[in-house]
Amino acid sequence: MLILGIETSCDETAVAIVEDGKRILSNEVFSQVRFHSKYGGVIPEIASRKQIELINPILQEVQRRAKIKWDDINAVAVTSSPGLIGSLLVGISTAKAFAYVFNIPLLEINHVEAHLYANFLEGDSPRPVTTATLPSEKSGQSPIEMPFLGLVVSGGHTSLFLVKGHNDIELLGSTRDDAAGEAFDKVAKLLGFPYPGGPQIEKLAEKGDPDKIEFPRPILPGSYDFSFSGLKTAVAYYVRDNARIDNLSYKTKCDIAAGFQEAVVQTLVYKTIKTAKKKEVGRIALGGGVIVNKRLRSQFMSEAEKCGMELSIPLPELCLDNAAMVACRAYYMMKNV
Ligand code: KG4
Ligand code: ZN
Repeated sequence: MLILGIETSCDETAVAIVEDGKRILSNEVFSQVRFHSKYGGVIPEIASRKQIELINPILQEVQRRAKIKWDDINAVAVTSSPGLIGSLLVGISTAKAFAYVFNIPLLEINHVEAHLYANFLEGDSPRPVTTATLPSEKSGQSPIEMPFLGLVVSGGHTSLFLVKGHNDIELLGSTRDDAAGEAFDKVAKLLGFPYPGGPQIEKLAEKGDPDKIEFPRPILPGSYDFSFSGLKTAVAYYVRDNARIDNLSYKTKCDIAAGFQEAVVQTLVYKTIKTAKKKEVGRIALGGGVIVNKRLRSQFMSEAEKCGMELSIPLPELCLDNAAMVACRAYYMMKNV
């Protein structure tokens, strides 16, 4: 079964064609980041105008690369929420027109859930799956089995799901204020770096001392929710107070980034492992742009291994927004298993 996926929820214009929920025939993502970075964040009006300009050329490119005819497509899947309304509308209108013209089903996909489905896609190289429990049975390409705990960490969301079936996904908790990625972006801005800040913070953190400055770990005991705005404010106060002392040297910036990143990583890993134990699930799947972060990936791997839990992490390029995950989500919705 061939599914056309369309993702235009924010500042990426993404289209993909996926076969049987796993094989990516083509997957194009156009990031608008250079149009937004000077403003320090995404400008919704610019984002939706760019989506209108880009959607048709990207559709054509995806078809060309997949080497298929449009009437080979069996269904079309589009992100319908959450996201910027003007951007979403471009993808939804395109998908509706496509489904109408080719008389095929149209599936509306939740963007946050779709991030978890990057774990079901095949990449060029095997996914890094830790194999603490079943070393011989997991070769890096087989999809994670149900039930599993899903953690999505992106620019707009930090959400924990209990996935019992493809049509039985329970949201256990989410962010009460800033998402983790948003906190990365805001801390980078405080340190004078452009949007998106996550990759910049990661680079600085590699040269910093994570124990030099102790920032709070927002654990929220007894709740599955997350909260990162207090941590971001702690960084803002540290920056304000120390800017006067050493004019925020490069070394200090590296230590701030390392201390902040460590607080986010420890909070995410601790809460996820604790929830998996509480819910008695031995499998964890990750997704979302912040999961590109190497420190976060490696901490999840070592902690999951210590607890004997199976862990699935998508390839970095499939953690970021893309339409292959949207098409994959739709495939499993249609299979209704
Ligand atoms: O999933 P995504 O592509 O878009 C949303 O759905 O929001 O995630 C984008 C977020 C941004 O906040 C960006 O700063 C963050 O992912 N990010 C990272 C890294 N790469 C991207 N955060 C930390 N470390 C990274 N290496
Ligand atoms: Zn996303």
